[in-house]
Amino acid sequence: MTDRTSTIVGRFAPTLVAWQRMHGRHGLPWQQLVSGRDAACDAYGIWVAEIMLQQTQVAAVIPFYRRFLERFPDVSTLADASLDEVMVCWSGLGYYSRARNLHAAAGRLVSEFAGLFPDDLDALQSLPGVGRSTAAAIAVFAFGRRAAILDGNVKRVLARMFAIEGVPSNAVTTRGMWSLAEELLPERDIAHYTQGLMDLGATVCTPRNPSCMSCPFATDCLARRQGRVAELPHRAKRKALPTRRVAMLLITRGSEVLLERRPPTGIWGGLWSLPEALPVDDLENLRQRIEAYGDVTSLQSAPGFTHGFTHFVLHADVVRARVSEPLHAIRIASSSDSFRWVDKVDVLGFGLPAPIRTLMAALPI
Ligand code: ADE
Repeated sequence: MTDRTSTIVGRFAPTLVAWQRMHGRHGLPWQQLVSGRDAACDAYGIWVAEIMLQQTQVAAVIPFYRRFLERFPDVSTLADASLDEVMVCWSGLGYYSRARNLHAAAGRLVSEFAGLFPDDLDALQSLPGVGRSTAAAIAVFAFGRRAAILDGNVKRVLARMFAIEGVPSNAVTTRGMWSLAEELLPERDIAHYTQGLMDLGATVCTPRNPSCMSCPFATDCLARRQGRVAELPHRAKRKALPTRRVAMLLITRGSEVLLERRPPTGIWGGLWSLPEALPVDDLENLRQRIEAYGDVTSLQSAPGFTHGFTHFVLHADVVRARVSEPLHAIRIASSSDSFRWVDKVDVLGFGLPAPIRTLMAALPI
């Protein structure tokens, strides 16, 4: 370590803690930077928040967080609820495996931990959906434990501050960053320190156009001293994402619309969506498939949508069909658990993926 780096390491935590107190975020619904409340009770709210914040920004999380805690105020309520109820509350937030993991973890907390949160990192990390950084955030904020976090924001702060050359997603670079994150931990004020790291990454040391003028480390930051703020952290070469094309069948029967529940794993796992078919060039090819749900009275293409997932891009062509009660056809739809005719006025109460919710909201009643 150079002299310059060791000076920065020594100054880092006290400067960050002082900055957090003055300029950081306070009063977020899950925050309890002031101790003195019932830790085991608050751990639940902190856990829910940390899971929601894994892939979603604070402003988007807040309304979902409030609704979720209102509906599931404690771990046993969450464990007792059906997965469907949890998915309804999560609908629109995305990355639905988080909701499935949360529900599964609540079951384990009740059955194996008497409904109380463990305060050690290994036990926290054994819960579905809780990785090393999330376990540390819960341990810090709920129990005041001294533990290092390392999420995307923190990686960016460290990469710039210490002019780290590797790509942050690279395993060797990540290992080095974990060591650095541990080394930087202060002996006290761990919650303000940890919140400060999150706040600095989210509000000052942003991916694009960082506000270096407001940064407490403006003179220390090696990237800034070297004029490389825009260059660091190095980005992994982007591969073009593959695309998938499907036809989504928007089938109505009077005031009802046909929903199909997605399989429990995979994209939108466990959510209610539209029945799907392979993409079609010829609408008439689909008619036979739709006849299984009723006698087709109209069939046309409707505006489709494109939705980006982490690993691929989905292009959905939407096919709009109206059916009447079948006289002779076998009614697959009503004889299967995964299909349901739902009145249009009730459909938004189902756990729907965001683009399907948008389609449904636009349906004339
Ligand atoms: N991102 C992840 N955890 C967070 C928290 N507790 N507060 C604000 N942003 C966060």
